[in-house]
Amino acid sequence: MSGEKANPLFESRDWRDRLSRSRDLGNGFAAPGGEFTRALYEWSFTPRGKILHSLLKNRRLVELGAGMMSYGYALAQSCGARNFVAVEPFYADIQRASIQSHLTKSDNMHPKIPFKVIKLGMLEYLEQEPDNLLCILACGIEDCILPGPDYRRKVEAEIVRTMDDDSFFLSSHSDLYPRELKVFEQLFFRQSNQNVTERLRLHGGKKAFDKYGDLLASTLP
Ligand SMILES: C[S@@+](CC[C@H](N)C(=O)[O-])C[C@H]1O[C@@H](n2cnc3c(N)ncnc32)[C@H](O)[C@@H]1O
Repeated sequence: MSGEKANPLFESRDWRDRLSRSRDLGNGFAAPGGEFTRALYEWSFTPRGKILHSLLKNRRLVELGAGMMSYGYALAQSCGARNFVAVEPFYADIQRASIQSHLTKSDNMHPKIPFKVIKLGMLEYLEQEPDNLLCILACGIEDCILPGPDYRRKVEAEIVRTMDDDSFFLSSHSDLYPRELKVFEQLFFRQSNQNVTERLRLHGGKKAFDKYGDLLASTLP
């Protein structure tokens, strides 16, 4: 996907134009989202959700399919991540503007962290990254968003290769599921609508569970 090519439809303010154009390209769907990363960010302020602060502290946090809003950056910032990368092929311009706007808000009490917005598909992005470095987040990346099972399997393999071996892949309301990792699942209510339950899966290897296993167990009811 050559995300940087100028294309007037991708600069349209109307998400329907972007969705329509993404269908033609065949590298994923520009579904607008909006609530999934936000739900995780808002949960991070609850007693159980505070585990995210431990999991993300000092991490290089990468959000796959970050969408239009700055909740991924806000989560990284409030949890003390080292930096944040938003990977977003269809709304990179809006994502960047949202983070910049978030940083100018007077109620933003947390120290700024460096960020990048990368206008690429998640597979192309991950293929360029070295082994064992990242902490990866995906919210709302259901099967209907991605081009197909082959693409999804390649992304899952790249996630396992690129994630730091004592970190978790955080997959919330998402079908990305690297089978070779152990998984810890948490259900939580959306803070903005308590009728909606979200499912967060933490996928990790032995080092991640050795490091954080007791903390995770302490959040079980
Ligand atoms: C349902 S939205 C979720 C957005 C955001 N995480 C949220 O909760 O608001 C899915 C996002 O994935 C992006 N997307 C689609 N195909 C993609 C791909 N191949 N690589 C990375 N992101 C992709 C879409 O543009 C969209 O922003």
